[in-house]
Amino acid sequence: MRKILFASSEVHPLIKTGGLADVSASLPIALHAHGHDVQIILPAYRQCLEALTEIRTVATVKLDGYHSPIEIIQSTLPGSDVTILLVHSPEHFDRDGGAYGPTSGGDWDDNAARFALFSRAVAAVAMNETELDWQPDILHCNDWQTGLAPALIADLPRRPATIFTIHNLAYQGLYPKETFGMLDLPERLWHSNGLEFYDMLSFMKGGLIYSDHITTVSPTYADEICTYEFGYGLEGLLAERAKEGRLTGIINGIDLDDWNPKTDAAISKNYSAKTVKNKYDNKIAIQQHFGLPVKSDAVVFGLISRLVAQKGVDLTIDAIATLLDEGENLQLVCLGSGEAGFEQDLRVLRARYPDKVGVTIGYSEELSHQIEAGADVFLMPSRFEPCGLNQLYSLRYGTLPLVRNTGGLADSVVDACGDDLKHNFATGFKFDAATAEALEETIRRSITLFKHPRVWRRVMLKAMEQDYSWKKSSQSYELLYDSLRAKLARN
Ligand code: ADP
Ligand code: GLC
Repeated sequence: MRKILFASSEVHPLIKTGGLADVSASLPIALHAHGHDVQIILPAYRQCLEALTEIRTVATVKLDGYHSPIEIIQSTLPGSDVTILLVHSPEHFDRDGGAYGPTSGGDWDDNAARFALFSRAVAAVAMNETELDWQPDILHCNDWQTGLAPALIADLPRRPATIFTIHNLAYQGLYPKETFGMLDLPERLWHSNGLEFYDMLSFMKGGLIYSDHITTVSPTYADEICTYEFGYGLEGLLAERAKEGRLTGIINGIDLDDWNPKTDAAISKNYSAKTVKNKYDNKIAIQQHFGLPVKSDAVVFGLISRLVAQKGVDLTIDAIATLLDEGENLQLVCLGSGEAGFEQDLRVLRARYPDKVGVTIGYSEELSHQIEAGADVFLMPSRFEPCGLNQLYSLRYGTLPLVRNTGGLADSVVDACGDDLKHNFATGFKFDAATAEALEETIRRSITLFKHPRVWRRVMLKAMEQDYSWKKSSQSYELLYDSLRAKLARN
């Protein structure tokens, strides 16, 4: 049994902007089920305080650079027995809006201060400097919002082993040099082999430089971030860590209870591999939901996404527009929110093809499940994708993922062509070039296969039998925790 402090800035179902929240719940739940004492630590956002019924203050902690002590609130992650610790600093976290910015979009001006405070609190709990009287063996940090924590404790005796998981290298927490001074961070951390990145303060580098080990969320992304194209200037450092054996790609798992077409309460008709014909009721339901003609022969493409360039939304819009102009028998159902330009482009597409395209701009857990169940094909033409969870949900729902060959998408989908199709290994569709033409071509390929229902059904069943539970991946983390702990004890 290991004591693990799992630090994250979002945790489903309390606060979520993307897959980080899903993983920050499902991985700790899997580790807890394996007998580990895992506690999740996150900021006490207003949404969390409102959603949790039983909370109690269990400690106060005086942090360097802050006048008043910060409270640590304890509760339990809804739907589980996992303990959560909330860092309660009302001036930083108890406000209307999202985790990183106002509902109207953009980032909060004080994000550097917010997540520096959070990281300091994580470090204090990791070093057992609070009344909790609980010291973890492992501090597992996630993404830049937690990056300063490993840096703050790196030199301390009796510290836990530290691991930093990159969920997305595109978001680094980069701030002007003056911010370093304003945050009152220790001078010793300011150098090019520290938090400094081309004269800027990088929270991400805190995690990359000072953790005992770095992981990222798929093997292919672990290779990609060591290259110029995906490394954002950090590829040299990451390649060095890889050479030292200190960078590993571990593919994410999914929560099989949350995402189970057999029991999913949000969808019209439950189904499993044995009753896969019932999936069709969900197709009718989603066509009706979006006011599209109910047609069994139209291939329904689903899209659920943060609307940002990473996700290739522009490629989707261009490719679908071309294919609809050509009269292809398809429908597109989308749910997403993000950059105003993409939201507007999707609305325009809907206005141009009102009986072919359905669009909901916003965030809805329920509708996301309904799209997963109702679509025939799920689109993820991402320019890069550290892991991606929606293609994993799609596999489980027999909704064939159509993905770009990158990151976790490359690792989890087998293209329906050639020998893989012939020998029944195929689970979806894949393409290489990040262009609307390559996507169009692949969408056409999927429409052609759809006309062969027996083959299609075979691919669906293959997709549904893929195991992306946490079983294997959580074991990889456990082995890593053990080896880091042993290494730290030796030094
Ligand atoms: P990322 O973390 O880069 O956004 P992932 O595929 O890992 O991508 O995870 C996205 C998660 O967020 C999935 O659980 C997906 O269903 C969810 N999601 C994204 N946009 C929405 C939305 N508009 N409404 C509901 N869920 C959404
Ligand atoms: C990030 C990535 C996504 C990944 C998720 C969870 O948001 O963009 O690919 O699945 O984190 O690890």
